[in-house]
Amino acid sequence: MSIHIAAKEGEIAEAILLPGDPLRAKFIAENFLKDPVQYTGIRNILGYTGTYQGKRVSVQGTGMGIPSISIYVNELFREYGVKRAIRIGTAGSIRDDVKIRDMVLAVSACTDSGANNIRFSGRNFAPTATFSLLKTAWDIAVSKGWQPKAGTVVSADMFYTENPEEWKLWAKFGCLAMEMECAELYTLAAKYGREALCLLTISDSLVSGEQTSAEERQTSFTRMMEVALETAIS
Ligand code: HPA
Repeated sequence: MSIHIAAKEGEIAEAILLPGDPLRAKFIAENFLKDPVQYTGIRNILGYTGTYQGKRVSVQGTGMGIPSISIYVNELFREYGVKRAIRIGTAGSIRDDVKIRDMVLAVSACTDSGANNIRFSGRNFAPTATFSLLKTAWDIAVSKGWQPKAGTVVSADMFYTENPEEWKLWAKFGCLAMEMECAELYTLAAKYGREALCLLTISDSLVSGEQTSAEERQTSFTRMMEVALETAIS
């Protein structure tokens, strides 16, 4: 058992899916995994291990934001030997050509977070996806006819920013979407020598103000989960 995860040694698979929402972890376990067993429920951050196409996979919530995902991913890498971590989340588009419901593969993540400032004493680290995972996920999505987008995302510390126009600077530099966790996942994967990928579904647009309905979110999320699960067991 680690401080925030109740699993015993061996209860978490080497490959794990990481949604922010713990109830999404429950949904994936109950609808996509065979024989899921819940291994943690501390703070209602649920985690399950089961099998997908005969291979062991875990799925666990991370909460929202860099401080929260940092706690769970640190413990998963350090104490449970997780080798492959795939975040599945939602993001807000900051470009006209990135549409609601689009699937985005995060090649890399800019951030305004204090975490890497503290860690690297003001130097800039470049949080980047594991290329083999990125390529596998891309190929799987394309083979299913779901044309994804790949590029840089932004992991912001604040959802409610003081300057509502802040995203425009990132858009000017070619970033595709705003979310709140990817940079920390990629940084920790680099530190511990593990594989990481972040798959995102566009849930809203900061450009147009559009938002997805709950039903649309469910359908596009299901596609992303399939890509994530097949990538996890590849
Ligand atoms: N900002 C940050 N994170 C998000 C957003 C957003 O607009 N939409 C979904 N996750």
